[in-house]
Amino acid sequence: MNLALIILAAGKGTRMNSDLPKVLHPIAGAPLLHHAMQTGAALSPARTIIVAGHGADQVRAAAHAYDEGAEVVMQEEQLGTGHAVDQARDALAGFSGDIAVLFGDTPFLQPETLERMIEARKTHDVIVLGFDLAELQPRYGRLVMDGSRLERIVEYKDATEEQRQIRFTNSGLLACDAETLFGLISDLSNDNASGEYYLTEVVELANQRGLTVTAIKCDEAETLGVDSRTDLANADAIFQTRARSAMLEDGVTLAAPDTVYVSFDTVVGRDALIEPNVVFGPDVTVESGATIRAFSHLEGCHVSRGAIVGPYARLRPGAELAENVRIGNFVEIKNAELARGAKVNHLSYIGDATVGEAANIGAGTITCNYDGVMKHHTDIGARAFIGSNTMLVAPVTIGDEAMTGSGSVITSDVEDGALALARAPQVEKPGMARKLFEMLKAKKARQSRGS
Ligand code: UD1
Ligand code: MG
Repeated sequence: MNLALIILAAGKGTRMNSDLPKVLHPIAGAPLLHHAMQTGAALSPARTIIVAGHGADQVRAAAHAYDEGAEVVMQEEQLGTGHAVDQARDALAGFSGDIAVLFGDTPFLQPETLERMIEARKTHDVIVLGFDLAELQPRYGRLVMDGSRLERIVEYKDATEEQRQIRFTNSGLLACDAETLFGLISDLSNDNASGEYYLTEVVELANQRGLTVTAIKCDEAETLGVDSRTDLANADAIFQTRARSAMLEDGVTLAAPDTVYVSFDTVVGRDALIEPNVVFGPDVTVESGATIRAFSHLEGCHVSRGAIVGPYARLRPGAELAENVRIGNFVEIKNAELARGAKVNHLSYIGDATVGEAANIGAGTITCNYDGVMKHHTDIGARAFIGSNTMLVAPVTIGDEAMTGSGSVITSDVEDGALALARAPQVEKPGMARKLFEMLKAKKARQSRGS
């Protein structure tokens, strides 16, 4: 079956009170728009059309970041959801098949629900997705049913007191044959409380034409529409709860689940242990049996089996930890590959580097990767021992089994097996400390007598 998705994403989202277009506000690290696109993508649509308006350049970039093949059409003025769908008319000229209209602000829709809508198209011309409101709310269009026939949708603003008591509510999703849909949309009016061209009016128009219209039902949780920051926070909380439950089921130990923040794409393997207050930014994979200790922050990184990270560690994009690597407290790793068994246990920055197998990086070591203009690479060999507080001024290479003395500032390459010392030699003056103490004490005594 030929399917085209139209995802509406042009609205300003006035109730967000934000400069950022609403559909770009993130849930679990990914814009609302990506969540909607992800659901749609599960149906392998032939075409995906995004209707953009407010912040169109940003919306286009975000759409293409998710799917280069997505087509973005403009809705210059936001005259309503029906008008928005109409903007896809030219792009879909000549397309024959079904259209599913999705909202960019409705992130939790499940692909199975979309599939059910498409399936229901076999028996009805127009399918609307609805849900039962657990608590009546002064928002959402109400579905006016006549048996299994959907008679019309009344927006909350336009509804009578009686209609406002209806719990069966519009999710915004609609499926219909392309030609039929655009035919109906040509006849929309804007004679309503908002003065907008409502997509929801197609239901009434379809009935007038003798088409068959029905609504199918899904869980309220799936259709949560994000219109305000409160909705956004609630949606994120729902996402987190689900993602944590899924992790627990997959055999991950979360010592304090409520304190762990995950991203839309976080992958954690079986028998991994995640201690309290860990934050997963986008693009993190933690393999089976790894341990992420408390208060660590990870993004764009890969932690292999048996590795231990934290407490209080920060893994930034490009951190690649091989098996049994140890990253300890107050250590930051960025764009660096650490081979099996390497250790960076305390207070270090390792950036733009490769660290060889079983190398030991002493406390306070820093790869000085940035000269103020360019970034440079540090290469540390296998089983090397970097003394505490070594500054590795990149570009620099430390050989296998090489050693640097504590406090060294290493500016040139160190060959395999060599010891490099780059610090002032120690000077020792016998008895001098005691003499100094006496002098200072005498001075203090004179001062207190004088005062
Ligand atoms: C809409 C539905 C309502 C439903 C609710 C579910 C209409 C008229 N109302 O109301 O029945 O219960 O969603 O969440 O359809 N958009 C555009 N261009 C526009 C207007 C909106 O692209 O001119 C986009 C928005 O960016 C958003 C989506 O359409 O992604 C929905 O718009 P929104 O203003 O949030 O509609 P609701 O008032 O929530
Ligand atoms: Mg909405």
